[in-house]
Amino acid sequence: MVSSGRRTVRKLLAVPLGLAGAGAATFGYASVIERNWFRLRRFEVPVLAAGRPSIKILHLSDAHLTPNRERLIHWVRSLDALEPDLVVNTGDALAHRDSIGPFLDALGPLLDRPGAFVFGSNDLYAPVFKNPLRYLWRTSGKDYKPRLDRDPDLPWRELGSSLQAAGWLDLNNKIGRLKVGALDVEFGGIDDSHIGRDRYDRIAGPVDPQADVHLGVMHSPEPRNMDRFAADGYDLLLAGHTHGGQVCVPFYGALATNCGIDRPRVKGLHRHKGSWLHVSAGLGTSPTAPFRFCCPPEASLLTLVPRP
Ligand SMILES: [Fe+2]
Repeated sequence: MVSSGRRTVRKLLAVPLGLAGAGAATFGYASVIERNWFRLRRFEVPVLAAGRPSIKILHLSDAHLTPNRERLIHWVRSLDALEPDLVVNTGDALAHRDSIGPFLDALGPLLDRPGAFVFGSNDLYAPVFKNPLRYLWRTSGKDYKPRLDRDPDLPWRELGSSLQAAGWLDLNNKIGRLKVGALDVEFGGIDDSHIGRDRYDRIAGPVDPQADVHLGVMHSPEPRNMDRFAADGYDLLLAGHTHGGQVCVPFYGALATNCGIDRPRVKGLHRHKGSWLHVSAGLGTSPTAPFRFCCPPEASLLTLVPRP
């Protein structure tokens, strides 16, 4: 027979133990299941002149790759079956000094396609543990301040030269041009504003009206830069960095964007003044915050089509 004292203790423990169990189950789901539940999102973007042929852009971002993430590597590699005409990577590919080989492996046959890239802060600086809740009251840009005086500790230059060796355009504070399918595509890109490496002045100026389409590429969707891309006439802006919020609340969405963009545009296709804006929720997470909730990892296939 159970004494009334024991029953009282059980009742008192039931709530905290139940909450702890639910918390552990949620963390297990977020770190093991959802973090590996890769999704492809598809959008049509009406930015071409009438009669021009469509092209497909595969937008990758924020892989934060460590060499052991075999599922991520395998999934990205499989995206070549989509036969994109262009691949754009908007930064934060690395999370480990030995990740360049695995990242190139993940791209695999995609490297034979036209491509372009910018860096994110995590391509330069190795991850360090931070309180994951700090995003609720400030961006992670401040975390880098003490580190910016030191040389980056990840092999970002080697990453850039490897991608350039495959023919991809380095768009870090640079403009560029590629033939993509039958289209003449003009690019403008900036390095990561999250750590103050963006130099829009170096690419400033109106786009070339002779090009079929104009793409603005950046890691962090910072409105002050998006405004300038839009004013210069870029048709479509591509960015990552936000991770879509990474940990979202059902029926509410992201709690924070980790940069200047507003919460409703934390991921997906939206307008920014006269331009279209696509923000990728990204493929990965920092290994120091290895979970996603209500915000699965993703890549996007953007089909550029004629304006209505
Ligand atoms: Fe990232």
